[in-house]
Amino acid sequence: MSREMDDLFEEQKQKFKEALRQAQSVVVSTGAGVSAESGVPTFRGKDGLWRKYNVMELATPEAFERNPSLVWEFYNYRRELMFSKQPNPGHITLAKLEEYLTSQSKEFTLITQNIDGLHKRAGSKNILAVHGDLYGVKCTRCDYKAENKDVPITPAFEGLGSPDPDTPEANVSFDDLPKCPKCNALIRPDVVWFGESLDSEILSKVDMAIAKADFMLVVGTSMLVYPAAAFPYAAKQTGAKLAFVNFEQTGNENIFDFVFIGKSGEILPEILNIYED
Ligand code: OAD
Repeated sequence: MSREMDDLFEEQKQKFKEALRQAQSVVVSTGAGVSAESGVPTFRGKDGLWRKYNVMELATPEAFERNPSLVWEFYNYRRELMFSKQPNPGHITLAKLEEYLTSQSKEFTLITQNIDGLHKRAGSKNILAVHGDLYGVKCTRCDYKAENKDVPITPAFEGLGSPDPDTPEANVSFDDLPKCPKCNALIRPDVVWFGESLDSEILSKVDMAIAKADFMLVVGTSMLVYPAAAFPYAAKQTGAKLAFVNFEQTGNENIFDFVFIGKSGEILPEILNIYED
């Protein structure tokens, strides 16, 4: 960084911290970028491939209906991968900020589009995971829904799921696919797929948090997927101060009062550490 950029960053950082200190109700909204430094692939760009598939082709109800074995291979891979990943300084700083603000009787809500569970592992508490949970499963027929950390998801998936583009499809037979303990229908990951609605209970909690927020920080998202992309716009309408931390510009910068371009694992510890001041 040049001297001028250093000075600019420093000046913005001080103003940002002052605004954050003034806030009574803080909402943070995160996307895949916050987990990038933990080694979790993001969705868009070169990272967004598994075998020859665009990740977004597999994360659909149609893909699951057509080929549940392939979609479970993909999720089996992601579930296994996540066991080897750790929260990074971005996740950890957000958890510390929550602890500090709540100790000051202020409100804090963390909305995340991520299904990787890293915020929870870092110690964040008030989390609204709008796209579901990689370690949740639900039945395709009845109301069964549960946490499930089995890797492999069933014994037939042992060793399956390699992302290598030359890997042949495993074509796990219907009998060996994961089943509901209540009704024996197929179970699926408890995540929101493309074309599906978000959980209405979670969404109404999101709406309430945003309506009350006087400060919102958006981190690591391309802001292309709705409704999450609209959350900062909703906060703006109620007069909240807005900040954005992302590796690259997305074209939405003009609605934000503060913009920090760079890695969240490096920037968040620098700008959120009001608990150390
Ligand atoms: P994207 O992959 O679309 O965007 C990730 C953003 O993070 C990009 O703008 C990157 O520049 C930025 N980024 C990368 N590394 C970063 C770092 N170290 N620090 C800060 N920023 C970084 O991910 P999302 O916006 O989260 O939905 O994608 C939204 C949704 O699309 C996902 O939740 C998923 C996907 O399809 C569902 O699965 C329903």
